Amino acid sequence: MERTLIILKPDAVQRRLMGRIITRFEEKGFKIIAAKFVHIDRAMAQKHYAVHKNETFYESLLEFITRGPVLAFVLEAENAIEVSRKMMGSTFGHEAEPGTIRGDFGISRQYNLIHGSDAPETALKEIKLWFKPEELVDYEMPDRSWLEMGK
Ligand code: RTP
Ligand code: MG
Repeated sequence: MERTLIILKPDAVQRRLMGRIITRFEEKGFKIIAAKFVHIDRAMAQKHYAVHKNETFYESLLEFITRGPVLAFVLEAENAIEVSRKMMGSTFGHEAEPGTIRGDFGISRQYNLIHGSDAPETALKEIKLWFKPEELVDYEMPDRSWLEMGK
């Protein structure tokens, strides 16, 4: 089992797309381990996007991600990182394949609706940045044996 951090960015919230995006992950069989609706400040945005601090788009990325509230959550599944990134589609809406979240709901480069951790080390770091250990909820899903049968 692997965990990943997903963020529904301010455009997803403002465009009332949260429910439809979460539904895709629920239907796929991901388990939600934690969730938080929050308007982050610049300092938190800088921490989250530290890897991009030398990029030309860094300043506008900070503005975007702090422009309104976001919904951050932790998903768990086998290969959670790869599967969720595949479901998100490639970074820019105009390049993302139809059928993906970015491909179906957006056309913008930066306003691309969703963030997902891109590697196991990144996921660990990001989950730690966004959630306290006690905010990660331990519980059983009744359909687990059906979802994982024959894997
Ligand atoms: P994310 O980190 O948000 O999941 O997105 P990603 O891995 O697909 O893309 P990444 O390269 O990490 O870029 C982070 C976010 O910065 C914005 N961006 N804008 N204007 C531009 O050229 C540009 N390039 C990237 C996007 O919001 C992207 O998701
Ligand atoms: Mg990234």
